Amino acid sequence: MKIAFAGDHAGYLLAEPVRKLLEDRGIEFENLGTFGPESVDYPDFAHALAARVESGQADLGIAACGTGNGMAITLNKHRGIRAGLAWNREIAGLVKAHNNANVLVLSQRFTTEEENLACVQTWLDTEFEGGRHQRRIDKISL
Ligand code: RB5
Repeated sequence: MKIAFAGDHAGYLLAEPVRKLLEDRGIEFENLGTFGPESVDYPDFAHALAARVESGQADLGIAACGTGNGMAITLNKHRGIRAGLAWNREIAGLVKAHNNANVLVLSQRFTTEEENLACVQTWLDTEFEGGRHQRRIDKISL
């Protein structure tokens, strides 16, 4: 299992704790940047992450920006991506159980690091429920 990560200047600080959490679980981690506090444009990193997941080079993705919204909006332009924004662990569980999100999107500015890591754990540990949720997912694409 390999998970790629992308963050802008308001999300990149989550890369290291997320890397540690994933590697402790035996999951391969790839950081697509950004790597410092200089201002960047989140779509550049969201599109790179989407390409990794859509091509199968990564099984799943994790993205982070200030609110999470810029990353989520951009990622969801891609047909092969269902990006779910989670500000707490309950939502992180639901974006897997109900939405089968293949990219988890985090907010570095409005969620604590501890809660963000709990979001990652919960998202990984939760199973997609299928059934009526699969039917609804099948209706998403235009
Ligand atoms: C950057 O200041 C901020 O706008 C960005 O990280 C994100 O929150 C956008 O949705």
